[in-house]
Amino acid sequence: MLHQLQPIAEACDLTVPDAERRRIGVVGAGAITRVAHLPAYRKAGLEVLGVCDLDLDRAEQLRGEFGLPRTYTLDEMLADEAIDVVDVAVVPQAQPAIIRRALAAGKHVLAQKPLAVDSTIGAELVEEARTAGLSLVVNHQMRYGEGMAAARAMAEAGWIGEVTAVTVDVDIETDFTAWDWLVTSPRLDLMYHSIHYLDTVRALLGDPHSVYCAGGRRPGQAVAGETRTFTTLTYEDGRRALIKVNHENHTGDQSATFRIDGSHGAIRGTIGLLYDYPHGRPDTVEVHSSVLPTDGWMPYPVTTRWIPDAFAGPMRALLREIAGHGPAPTTAADGLRTLQLVEACYASIESGQVRRF
Ligand SMILES: NC(=O)c1ccc[n+]([C@@H]2O[C@H](COP(=O)([O-])OP(=O)(O)OC[C@H]3O[C@@H](n4cnc5c(N)ncnc54)[C@H](O)[C@@H]3O)[C@@H](O)[C@H]2O)c1
Repeated sequence: MLHQLQPIAEACDLTVPDAERRRIGVVGAGAITRVAHLPAYRKAGLEVLGVCDLDLDRAEQLRGEFGLPRTYTLDEMLADEAIDVVDVAVVPQAQPAIIRRALAAGKHVLAQKPLAVDSTIGAELVEEARTAGLSLVVNHQMRYGEGMAAARAMAEAGWIGEVTAVTVDVDIETDFTAWDWLVTSPRLDLMYHSIHYLDTVRALLGDPHSVYCAGGRRPGQAVAGETRTFTTLTYEDGRRALIKVNHENHTGDQSATFRIDGSHGAIRGTIGLLYDYPHGRPDTVEVHSSVLPTDGWMPYPVTTRWIPDAFAGPMRALLREIAGHGPAPTTAADGLRTLQLVEACYASIESGQVRRF
């Protein structure tokens, strides 16, 4: 049986061959750079030449923590010919201008999600990268995480027959108050959190035919935006997905699960990160297959975490694209579709109607 898991493990591989490594400059010394980007690149053996942030103390502190050669201003970073790739992780409103400047300076760019908070701007960025002949990839890392990558590889290998449905069910307590820009944002869960699930469902099933979404807030919640969403995605051939998320679970019984159903079995698991963010734990994945066949639910041994390990995924994909292996799965053009799906969800909430996508 173990040999059957080998191709699944290979599909989760995030190692970067020496020949494909490029030197990286990171813009943004915030929370996600500290807990995810830099630890992931360190584990992957990628060379980060330095970091830049409007908050110079923060940049300097991070430089020291990770032993980086130097801090930069953005101008200095973009003028440094040793840097091939600019990795952006700043407040979302500041991201498009930085991407534009990096492309104009001839750098390849890894953008954080969302690519932009407005798909019109997102589409302009896609076009600017295309015109410049440079790679622009979005950091939609959930689909590269070992749990999701293994589940998708099993589905793609036909272990559960024809995939019929995907369900993501997240019921957690999330403290957004460390991010002042998130606290005041009128758009919250879909734009900054459920975007991961929408992207992951797109990686599994492609673009849906239509979407219906209901969003809500809890009386007295600290944040302005929606903290509870129910999203259904339907496909012309009858496949469907349900994404159900609540960030205001104050009863201590946190859960974060996913399930992929098929004609000949199912894959189920947990999203480990959400049980203790940002440390988390490895995902769990189990498969029940009449194709292999399995004797009931068979576990797949996930050994890495969403944070930091999955963050090597989009960077590796960008580096492979630069090295000529074809478009990254999470190109900006693809990230734009995920962003447009987010916007379709908001349009559905606002209209109370099913939206065609
Ligand atoms: N799993 C994920 O992919 C994930 C998780 C968390 C955050 N994020 C995304 O990463 C981005 C950053 O999030 P964070 O949690 O690190 O936020 P943060 O608030 O902790 O840090 C943002 C940093 O950006 C800096 N900054 C703002 N404008 C800048 C500019 N013009 N030039 C240089 N630096 C600037 C700020 O000084 C701050 O240090 C956001 O887009 C967020 O959506 C993604």
